[in-house]
Amino acid sequence: MSGEWDAGSYQRVSGPQVEWGRRVVERIPLRGDEDALDAGCGTGRVTRLLAERLPDGTVLAVDASHAMAEEAARRLADLAPRVRVRVADLLALRVDEPVELIVSTATFHWILDHDRLFARMRAALRPGGRLVAQCGGAGNIARTLRAADEVSARPAYAASLAEMPEAWLFADHHATVDRLDRAGFTETRAWLEDAPVHFPDAVAGAEFLATVVLRHHLERLDPERRAPFAREVAELCMLPDGRMEIDYVRLNLEARREE
Ligand SMILES: C[S@@+](CC[C@H](N)C(=O)[O-])C[C@H]1O[C@@H](n2cnc3c(N)ncnc32)[C@H](O)[C@@H]1O
Repeated sequence: MSGEWDAGSYQRVSGPQVEWGRRVVERIPLRGDEDALDAGCGTGRVTRLLAERLPDGTVLAVDASHAMAEEAARRLADLAPRVRVRVADLLALRVDEPVELIVSTATFHWILDHDRLFARMRAALRPGGRLVAQCGGAGNIARTLRAADEVSARPAYAASLAEMPEAWLFADHHATVDRLDRAGFTETRAWLEDAPVHFPDAVAGAEFLATVVLRHHLERLDPERRAPFAREVAELCMLPDGRMEIDYVRLNLEARREE
C-alpha cells in the first residue's frame, strides 16, 4: 500500500483532525521553551498550533509522506529555523538531539507495530521527556468500515477490493498502557473518547472519506470508480437529519521516559 497522501486535499478537509489536535496541544502543561517533535505532522496545521505554544522552543516535524512533508515545509516556512520539517518513517526514526516532548495526533493508528513505534519514541526522548499522543482507538470508525465493506461487495468493486490488507491498528487503552510500560515509559495513562464527526451532506462526507478513511480502497480502484465508491459509502453513513456521520473513537495516551 502506498504511504502517499493527497496533501492538498488533506489540507482542505482536515478540520476534524485539527480540532482534535488543538485540544491535545492545549492540554499539555508547557513552559514555552521546550524542544519538541511532531510525530506524523501531515501538512503542519497542528505543528503550527504546537509551535505557537513554544515561542522560545523548537519543533521538529516529521512525516513519512513526501507530499505531506513538502506541503508542511512550505506552510511552516515563516517559522524556520525554529520549526523544521523532515521526511522520516517513525519506525526508523533517529534524531540528532533527543527532545523533551513528543506530540503526535491522528497518526499512530496508521502504524501497525506499536511496540516498535514506542521504542523509537522513547529513544527520541531525553530522560524525563514526555510523549503526548492521540490516534484512532478501539472501535474507531467501526460503522463506517461496515459501510465500506458493504459497498466493496457490490459487483462494480468486488473484484478489486476482495482482499484488503490490515490498514490500521485501533488499539485499546489497556493494551496501550501495557505496551508503553514494556517500552520503558513511566507515568503512563491512556483512555478512549468517542469523537463522532458530522458533515453537512454526502458530498462533503465523501470528499473526506476519499482523502482519509478510504485511501487504500481507492488506490485499488480504477480512477473512474473512485468517486462513486466514496459517495456510496457516504450514503450508507447518513443520519436521518441529512447529515453524514463518521463514528470516530480517539485513543489518548501520555507517558514519560524515566529519568
Ligand atoms: C491523518 S494524518 C495526521 C497529520 C497531522 N498530525 C494532523 O493531525 O493533521 C496522518 C499522518 O501520519 C503520517 N504517517 C503514517 N505512518 C507514518 C510513519 N510510519 N512514519 C511517519 N509518518 C507516518 C502520514 O503520512 C500522515 O501525514
